[in-house]
Amino acid sequence: MRGEAVEVRIAGSSVRAYGDESIAAAALASGTRVLSRSLKYHRPRTFFCFEGHCSGCLVRLGGVPNLRACQAPCSAGAEVEGQNAFPSAEIDLLGAVDFLFSRGMDHHTLMTSSSMLNKLANKVVRQLSGLGKLPDVAATELPDVQRFDIDVCVIGGGPAGLAAATATAGARLSTVLVDDQLRPGGSLRADPRLGRSVAETRWGHAAQSGVTVLSRSTAIGFFPEDDGGVLAVAAPERLYRIYAKQWIWATGGYVVNLPFPDNDRPGVIAARAVGRLLVDHGILAGDKICIVESPACSDDVAALANALSVAGADVTRIPLAEMMGTRGRGWTTAIDTKRGKLDCDLVAVAACPAPASEGPRQQGCTVTLDEAAGGFRVVVDEHGRTSAPNAWACGDVTGYRGPAGAGEDGARVAAHVIAAAGRG
Ligand code: FES
Repeated sequence: MRGEAVEVRIAGSSVRAYGDESIAAAALASGTRVLSRSLKYHRPRTFFCFEGHCSGCLVRLGGVPNLRACQAPCSAGAEVEGQNAFPSAEIDLLGAVDFLFSRGMDHHTLMTSSSMLNKLANKVVRQLSGLGKLPDVAATELPDVQRFDIDVCVIGGGPAGLAAATATAGARLSTVLVDDQLRPGGSLRADPRLGRSVAETRWGHAAQSGVTVLSRSTAIGFFPEDDGGVLAVAAPERLYRIYAKQWIWATGGYVVNLPFPDNDRPGVIAARAVGRLLVDHGILAGDKICIVESPACSDDVAALANALSVAGADVTRIPLAEMMGTRGRGWTTAIDTKRGKLDCDLVAVAACPAPASEGPRQQGCTVTLDEAAGGFRVVVDEHGRTSAPNAWACGDVTGYRGPAGAGEDGARVAAHVIAAAGRG
């Protein structure tokens, strides 16, 4: 399930990893839990989302700083170091800052009695903080830029995007699918009811239908003023400029944390990430797992709790209203609830995903506050058409539907796009 075995070095130790998994998954499976330190107080930081969106997993990889470990594939010989820490992310002596300034530190007012002392203090603070060091080797060339002029561009390679792109390409509309993850599939890869094999099958169907799939490619901006609208996309080796007659936003939703004391302690991970580790990589992230849940999306939580139990974990579900905080030094070892203390080695946070609607907003699509998800969803009509010309949206970016519902929605909206393009 995890691909071909490879050897990588993480924080100075050799680790057996697998080609289909990310550096973050390999690190967690091998027991490396803290990957970096917070900018100012050097508090331990680590993975939360496993989807490239929380920035908790920034590492130095092959001499390049600030790469997301959860979006970097394990390739043989990869050298991974923690950053913003001394001597290592797990044991960081600079963490003394947090201890010494337990009531907070305003570095602008440090040692202001003398301008020389203040300059010195600022210099020391600048050395202690920041995000990584400059790359070992400076880039000397700009990346290539490739242009696409196509009928349909689908942004997002989860269940909705894969279904929509497969349908439009099947109707002989030239289609490009942009997906920022290591492998398309989105939430399918985190859902025990569907899973990795369904994601691989649907990705295969999209490719067979003629979809050009751009994996590990992030839509970084939509510019409506440029020639009717252009999407700028960044991939590891190149940039793309995409011009399309129709746009389908299938960007899904972001996992979010829930509000309880010490919810940023390492060992507090998004429930969808825990599902992804199990379903996509065969990694059980903890032995004693507490799932903290908000009232919405409880069907998904039940499926995950069941799968974790079947895999051998001891699982307890805690409503958010009963959650009082986490305990532990480097990693979470227990939680406090209104019923008392509960030992655990992982807290999985289950909240409804917040719609990833920044791209559609750049195109001018109207959005509205989705209070259950705590974000702005794209407003669509009954066909999936947004308020912007030639722009459509489907799946969780229009309101949470879950992986199965999002796939159905993608196929349904694609049928209207095909009709609008005169290929009904
Ligand atoms: S960005 Fe990597 S775990 Fe969130």
